[in-house]
Amino acid sequence: MERVNIAFLGFGTVGTGAYKIICNNGDTILNSDGIRLNVVKVLVGNIHKKRSICLPEGVLTDRFEDIIEDDSIRIVAEFIGGEYPAKNYIEQCLRKGKTVVTANKEVIAKHGLYLTKLAKEHGCGLLFEASSVGAVPVIRIIRESLQANKISKIMGIINGTTNYILTKMAEEDLSFETALQQAQDLGYAEPDPTADVEGYDALYKLSILSSLAFQTQVRVEDIYREGITKISKEDIQYAKELGYAVKLAAIAKKTEDGIEARVHPTFIPEKHPLASVRDSFNAVFINGDAIGEMMFYGQGAGDMPTGSAIVSDILHACQNPCGGNFLDVVKSNSIRVTDNWKTAFFIRMTVMDKPAVLHAISGCFARHNVSLWTVVQKGSGDGHSKKTVPLIFITHEAEEREMRAALEDIANVKEVTEINCCIRVEK
Ligand code: NDP
Ligand code: HSE
Repeated sequence: MERVNIAFLGFGTVGTGAYKIICNNGDTILNSDGIRLNVVKVLVGNIHKKRSICLPEGVLTDRFEDIIEDDSIRIVAEFIGGEYPAKNYIEQCLRKGKTVVTANKEVIAKHGLYLTKLAKEHGCGLLFEASSVGAVPVIRIIRESLQANKISKIMGIINGTTNYILTKMAEEDLSFETALQQAQDLGYAEPDPTADVEGYDALYKLSILSSLAFQTQVRVEDIYREGITKISKEDIQYAKELGYAVKLAAIAKKTEDGIEARVHPTFIPEKHPLASVRDSFNAVFINGDAIGEMMFYGQGAGDMPTGSAIVSDILHACQNPCGGNFLDVVKSNSIRVTDNWKTAFFIRMTVMDKPAVLHAISGCFARHNVSLWTVVQKGSGDGHSKKTVPLIFITHEAEEREMRAALEDIANVKEVTEINCCIRVEK
C-alpha cells in the first residue's frame, strides 16, 4: 500500500465532496489503486466558520505557507474558485514541484497553457477534469480516448445552474430568482452566480474543451457569450408552443474558415436529445471523423459528482507523478476565430397593430438576406388601433452579422415599440 499526503485549497462544496469520497470510499480506492490518500492540510478563508465536516486536529489552516512549505505534500487540490488568489497558489505549488489538481475553469481557461508549461519545467502535473462537466470525464475522453480523431464540433449543455433554472422555469413555473436561489442552496452555483447566469462559466469550459478538441488555443476573448438573464417565462412558453426547449448551449465548430465558438440561449427542438437534459445534468456531443457523433451525459455540478472527478485526478497524479498534463497537446498559436456564423433565429417584438407593419419589418429582413420561416401574431388587436401586440418570427438560417444589421433597421421602424428578444435556434 502506498500512502500519499495531499492538501486541499478550499473546503466548500467541492472540497467537502472530495473529502467525503476519500473518507467513505478509502477501501474501494485502496483495492483498485493500492493507494491510501491522506489529507494532511486544508486551507480555508475563515478558520472559525462552522463546518458540516469536522477535520482532525491541525488539518484546517488559513496559512498557505503550511502547505507550500510541507515537503511531504506531493499533490495539492484547488477548489477556492475565481482567478485570484487561486492562480497564484497554483503557480507556487507547481514551482515547488507539487502536482496540482483543480476544479477551477477560470484559471485553466485563462492561464492553462502557461501553468502547463510551468508544471512540465518543474516535473509535475496539472490536472483539471473537474473543471468541465462535473462528474462526466469528457476531458480525459477527448485526451485519451478520442485522440485519433479530427474533432469538428462540440455542442453541449455545460452549466448545471442555468440548466436547473431553465428547467424549473419551464416545468414548475418558478421565477428566475427562486430557481437561482435553489441552485445556490444545492451547491451548483459558482461562489458569484453571475458567472453562471451570464454565461462566463460555460464560456471558460468551452474554451477548455474546444482547445483540447481542436488542439489549438481557443481564447476566452474569442468566444461569443450571452447569458440567460434576459430569458422570460413568455419566451419559454412560446418555445414550448413552437416545439422547442430553451437551453444555454455551448457550441464550437472547426471549419475550413476557422473556428466558431459561442455560448448563448438556444431553442433546441424537443426531439433533440439535448432538449431532454434537465435540472443540473449536463450533456456534450462530440463529432469526430472516425467516431461520427458521440454523446456524454451526467451530473454537471454538485459536491459528490465534482468530488468524484477530483479524486480520480488525484489518483491519476499519484500514478503519474511527473505529468499527465491535459493541455500539453494544445498549440498556443491560435487559428482564426470567426464572429460570423449561420443559425436560425427566434425573434419576439412588440408592434403596433396597424396595416403594413409586417410589410415594413419583412422588408428589413429581406434587405439583409434573412429569409422567414414562421410568423405568428399573438394577442387580439383590431388591426387599426394603437394597441400593441407581440409578433414572433422564426427565420431560416441566416448570417449572424446580417441578422444584427436587420435588427438595427427594424428598431427604426416606428411601429415597432420594442425588440424583446432574439434567440438562436438549433435546427
Ligand atoms: P465554495 O464557495 O463552496 O468554496 C470555496 C472555498 O474556498 C471555501 O472553503 C472558502 O473558505 C475557500 N476560500 C475562498 N477564498 C479563499 C482564500 N482567499 N484563501 C483560502 N481559501 C479561500 O466554492 P465551490 O466548492 O462551489 O467551488 C470551488 C471551485 O470549484 C470553483 O472554481 C468552481 O468553479 C469549481 N467547481 C464547482 C462545482 C460545483 O458544483 N460547486 C462543480 C465544478 C467545479 P471558507 O470555507 O472559509 O469560506
Ligand atoms: N457552477 C457550475 C455549474 C459548477 O453550475 O455548472 C460546475 O462547474
